[in-house]
Amino acid sequence: MLYVETLGNLPELAEGEVKALLELASSKFGVLDKDYLFLALEADESALPLLSRLGMSHEAGILLFSAESLEELYSKAQTIDWSFLEEPFAVRKERMINCRYDVKAIEGKLGGIITKEGLKVNLTHPKSIVRVYCGEKLWVGVRSLYFDPKSFQSRKADKRPFFKPISLPPRLSRAMVNLTRARREILDPFMGLGGILIEAGLMGLKVYGVDIRDDMVRGAKGNLEFYGVRDYDLRVGDATNLKEVFGEKKFEAIASDPPYGTSATLAGWNREELYKKALESIYDVLEGHLAIAFPTQFDAEKAAREIGFEVLERYYQRVHGSLDRFFYVMKV
Ligand SMILES: C[S@@+](CC[C@H](N)C(=O)[O-])C[C@H]1O[C@@H](n2cnc3c(N)ncnc32)[C@H](O)[C@@H]1O
Repeated sequence: MLYVETLGNLPELAEGEVKALLELASSKFGVLDKDYLFLALEADESALPLLSRLGMSHEAGILLFSAESLEELYSKAQTIDWSFLEEPFAVRKERMINCRYDVKAIEGKLGGIITKEGLKVNLTHPKSIVRVYCGEKLWVGVRSLYFDPKSFQSRKADKRPFFKPISLPPRLSRAMVNLTRARREILDPFMGLGGILIEAGLMGLKVYGVDIRDDMVRGAKGNLEFYGVRDYDLRVGDATNLKEVFGEKKFEAIASDPPYGTSATLAGWNREELYKKALESIYDVLEGHLAIAFPTQFDAEKAAREIGFEVLERYYQRVHGSLDRFFYVMKV
């Protein structure tokens, strides 16, 4: 079994992202149990390379066992052969908001059980980290993946060479890519300065982008190059006519954050019309999944169903006073 600790700001979307990657790894994998922001997964280590793409999570690892009392946790810990741990190790606990156990002394006590097997501890520079999550239950695992906030911060819009305040945060851009279940490639037909494509490119996907403004296309190219993404095909074009831009090419996946008509340009379009025409055009060139954000005022579900999309998932986000949006996952 594996575990993932998700971020707290958009928990449903974060769980959707984990499920999408598990689905990519194997049809047998899924979420087994949930405890606040902790997900227990029916999956083995073969899912870790795909889970390393996660955006909306803190960490992931191997789940060893759960317990419903401290006594049960200590007695189960004594039955485990800890020799697989890389030395030196440390135990670190996470008290979640719903933690219902007194875990003050747990790191020392569990560490004591493991050191009895002869393993060395180093609290400041451990090579492996045993994690205890305290929520409704107690969960014990070993960290395999840590999603360093510094790495995401280094790709925030204002850290890129070409910058406009119209971009999604990198973690959310990454989650959108993952929600499309892309394995090989992705298109963003309203790419702006390439926020979504930077994340997709860093995951090793071939990235395709379209924007109606050539200054955006030049900026997106500069941003992709800056982060070392080289496998791209960016074109000036209209998202409402993608067939004209790419001819007969069909795309495995599409992710996009179309303009809201506030600071971003609508290039002369009425907003609803632009969204409908863009959805029709996306439908024409898509083979797999679409992840797309729309303001809540637009009934995207209705428009998408009329075109022929199957709407699979919808996640709500309040951005600020005048902007609420839904993130949709759809399939042709
Ligand atoms: C909200 S921004 C996209 C931000 C981008 N997802 C990011 O994270 O950096 C929307 C972009 O859509 C472009 N745009 C507007 N109308 C368009 C159209 N009909 N076809 C293609 N691009 C369009 C705008 O020029 C703008 O750059």
